[in-house]
Amino acid sequence: MNQLGRALQFFRPDAHRLAVALFLMLASLATNLLKPWPLAILVDSVLGDKPLPLWLVSLGASTQKESMLAFLGICVLVLHLAQGGLTTAQNYVAIQIGLNGLRRVRDEVFACLQRLSTRFLQGAKSGELIHRAAWDTYAFQTLFQQGLVTSVSAVMSLLLMLVVMWRVNKVLTLVALLIVPMLATVIKYFGRRMIDRGSAAQQADSQVTTFVQQSIAALPLTQSYGREEHEATTFNSRTATAMEKRLTQHGWELGYWLVVSVTFAVGTAGIIWLGGHQVLAGKLTVGQLLIFLAYLIQFYEPLNQLSHVGATVTNSIAATQRVFEILDTPEDVRESPKARPVTGPQEPVTGALPKGSAPAESHVLRVTGRIELDHVTFGYKKGQAILEDISFRVVAGQSVAIIGPSGVGKSTLLNLLPRFFDPTEGVVRLEGVDLRELRLRDLRAQMAVVLQEPILLPVSIAENIAYGKPRASRRQIEAAARAANAEEFITRLPNGYMTIVGEGGTRLSVGERQRLNLARAFLKDAPILLLDEPTSALDVESEEAVVRSLHELMKGRTTLIVAHRLSTISNVDKILVLRDGRLIEEGTPSELKSRDGYYAKVTKGQLVLE
Ligand SMILES: Nc1ncnc2c1ncn2[C@@H]1O[C@H](COP(=O)(O)OP(=O)(O)O)[C@@H](O)[C@H]1O
Ligand SMILES: [Mg+2]
Repeated sequence: MNQLGRALQFFRPDAHRLAVALFLMLASLATNLLKPWPLAILVDSVLGDKPLPLWLVSLGASTQKESMLAFLGICVLVLHLAQGGLTTAQNYVAIQIGLNGLRRVRDEVFACLQRLSTRFLQGAKSGELIHRAAWDTYAFQTLFQQGLVTSVSAVMSLLLMLVVMWRVNKVLTLVALLIVPMLATVIKYFGRRMIDRGSAAQQADSQVTTFVQQSIAALPLTQSYGREEHEATTFNSRTATAMEKRLTQHGWELGYWLVVSVTFAVGTAGIIWLGGHQVLAGKLTVGQLLIFLAYLIQFYEPLNQLSHVGATVTNSIAATQRVFEILDTPEDVRESPKARPVTGPQEPVTGALPKGSAPAESHVLRVTGRIELDHVTFGYKKGQAILEDISFRVVAGQSVAIIGPSGVGKSTLLNLLPRFFDPTEGVVRLEGVDLRELRLRDLRAQMAVVLQEPILLPVSIAENIAYGKPRASRRQIEAAARAANAEEFITRLPNGYMTIVGEGGTRLSVGERQRLNLARAFLKDAPILLLDEPTSALDVESEEAVVRSLHELMKGRTTLIVAHRLSTISNVDKILVLRDGRLIEEGTPSELKSRDGYYAKVTKGQLVLE
């Protein structure tokens, strides 16, 4: 229930609209209650000889039968029009509120996904996240429209109806009420079973679909082994099961309607019998009896709606729960409120100062690219250290290669620098300052990251290159592309720099995509470069072009590069070898070569770098 309250919070900003919807709902329910009255007046006062109700006379109604008939006809029309209009308006406003809430939930989920650490994103399956963000969020709308609005309207409708009936005739109201427990029992008995049969049928149906999918995928196998008949037989048995399950479901539904109508028949019979007696005894008019019968028919709809609300709310709450799990994921990395601004080596210090309360210039950290890991231990899960007690220093402008077997934690180590994660123990320092004391955005602005799989967005080539520097001029973008050896293939594209990536069959090879990523890094011009196997997805031919621009990019920057090919790292200043989570070798390439360690074995071809 707590969950329900929390979910409905998203509709709070629409409180004024909610009031309008509530008013429209009440008005529509009231007009709905008036609908049977013209018929009652027709029977009692026009066809019969009961005097017209006083309020009608005071409205100036003529006592002439002809004009009364016309008047009643108009009444019926007006009532139906009014009720239709009010219901439409109420539904429209309710849908509007529902959609507004849905939009709020989605915006919040998206903002949250943008903030979440890559640790969460890597842990979750992206298909599942998409499902949660796109589909589970609908549950909020359902909860509001089919949960809240429907139950409020059904309860109000029942109550209003009861009040009116009670005022007309108490005994008949009690008879009408008798069918409520009967209907409730029927709904309870059939409801659960219909839901179960329904989901069983649904499941059987989806098995049919899955089977089709799988058989299409396995078609070459099936045909080459001549098992078509076998597959067809299996399929036939699935469709037969699905058909049986659906039939059972429909059988229960038909039975339900049968029992419901019998229940109504019991109520109707009771009212006709008792009411008929009262009419004969002159205690009730025919018109009033008709009103009761009309209300009795209307009893069912709100009861039926209420019976479905439970299941709808339960399902929706389960879905909102999955959305709240995203919203409640704690951020791994938090910025301290006193975080220091950071600037690059050449930028003016004032550029990093926040507007308004300008802190002292000495407060701003100027980055040259000096990095230090001090007894750093890190694990994704508690008690499972991936990196253990790692310490090393990188001088500004130095290039350092990290090698080691696959899965040892090289990427993890790189991820500690832009603070995608924080170490469990130990400290990572930039210019001697703990990263946790620095402003996150500023810190990340000092690093350019190039990953193994090049990431491009479905926007123009120019925008892709300028992603880290949206205000870059065309000339700067072109210079970056040139430096990354990308200019040649870009100018060959149909729209050059304005070509939209992935559109109209624009297919770029992995090497070209990676060079665009490098161009992005060139343009960002950050003092620190983090490269995670930037060439491993490339074939040898395109690798050469990428490596040339890589070396160009590394000039004058502190570089940490994870590499799987020696060619990429032949000219680095220092090599770090990770094994079993620990740093086992550290030194220049020539130093390590002379020792009989991991690196020496790799260069001699005794070990393969992965
Ligand atoms: N987001 C994550 N959550 C949990 N475990 C992870 C995550 N990313 C990597 N790992 C695990 O951490 C270990 C090191 O991974 P990684 O740093 O990618 O290794 P490398 O880059 O050296 O191949 C692996 O066992 C991997 O399964
Ligand atoms: Mg890796």
